[in-house]
Amino acid sequence: MIQAAIFGFGNIGSGVAAVLEENCKQVAKAVPGGIHVKYILDIRDFPDSPFADRIVHDIDVILSDPEIKVVCETMGGKEPAFTFSKRALEKGISVCSSNKELVEAFGPELLRIASENHCSYLFEASVGGGIPLLTPLLQNLAQEEIQSVTGILNGTTNYILTKMERYGADYAQVLKEAQDLGYAERNPAADVEGHDTGRKISIISSLISGKTIRFDDIYTEGITKITPVDFTWAKANGYSIKLLGRSKKAADPSGDGTAQIEVMTAPFLVKEGHPLYGVCDVFNGVLVHGNMVDDVMFYGRGAGKLPTGSAVVADMILAAKNIGQTVPVEWNPEVLVPVPSGECINAFFVRMNSTDAEKTRTVFADKISAVWSAQDDAEFVFVTCQMQENCFFDLLGKAGEALSVIRVL
Ligand code: HSE
Repeated sequence: MIQAAIFGFGNIGSGVAAVLEENCKQVAKAVPGGIHVKYILDIRDFPDSPFADRIVHDIDVILSDPEIKVVCETMGGKEPAFTFSKRALEKGISVCSSNKELVEAFGPELLRIASENHCSYLFEASVGGGIPLLTPLLQNLAQEEIQSVTGILNGTTNYILTKMERYGADYAQVLKEAQDLGYAERNPAADVEGHDTGRKISIISSLISGKTIRFDDIYTEGITKITPVDFTWAKANGYSIKLLGRSKKAADPSGDGTAQIEVMTAPFLVKEGHPLYGVCDVFNGVLVHGNMVDDVMFYGRGAGKLPTGSAVVADMILAAKNIGQTVPVEWNPEVLVPVPSGECINAFFVRMNSTDAEKTRTVFADKISAVWSAQDDAEFVFVTCQMQENCFFDLLGKAGEALSVIRVL
């Protein structure tokens, strides 16, 4: 039996405890004797919880117990999660995290500390909730040159967009529902402004490039400007609107083999029939394109107590099977700055006042690939061909003020 501890008994931490308890037989098939939660670290008391007797408030109680071999860090935020994870790793205790903010900011450093102390730092649950994604990328797809990853990586915003699309729902009301269901971050801006997706695509991009792609270097746009009218136009023309994190290998203009990568978080129109089109509600979907395997799609619940808790437990099992050694994760601290967003190539959906139609037609000329049939006389709505973003925004500046601009996948 492996003795373990949970750092942070919130939504995900309590999910980890529930998965280990309810699925103890399944866990014991993988780890002889199973994984037992000996301590739960939290500043709060939980007198009504069946785990009340395991709550401790002092991390030293856990770190000074030589029986503890694995902990899960489900605290969220950078501090004290970083200090606690570092201290555990320095004691040779493996740490399994669901905390994407911490992983994005300190992943390489915590991996190095783990390796120096013959234990593991694992973070499957930090991306895609319950979907096994990072481990398959690192193991089953290790032989591939990954050319692109395109994903719906945030359950909260996908839930909100789905309700807006289906029921024309009110944004604030649906956000509240997502919070009540335990999907949303403590600060909902992290979800709706795209930061959560940005951190997740930063982690994915770092793992597929082997270098560090910083969240701060990624163009990030959220869903706050999407309106029901955008959905009406999209739907009428066979599209949905999804918040995507996208990472793709870029052309190498210098030809010197210097790696180039385009990384972006933004809402996109997604055409019916595309594998991500039907990914709705809290579900996440991640489409990976490898040079040999072609397309591989990952799908599942991207948020929530039990799905995310399940992914943390998967890492705890992996760590428990590798006591005394490090589960290898290649992530070099060397920073790779993505191609500036202005140089990325995309197509755009644009809504203008119909009073600007003539000027817009003249300015965009052959860059307009389709004018969508007018649903009312008030708007001129069109889709551009694929073009450099700088060029698009230059032309738009000359055409007038857009009512809405959304990229098209
Ligand atoms: N707030 C996040 C989401 C939680 O909605 O996807 C899971 O990372």
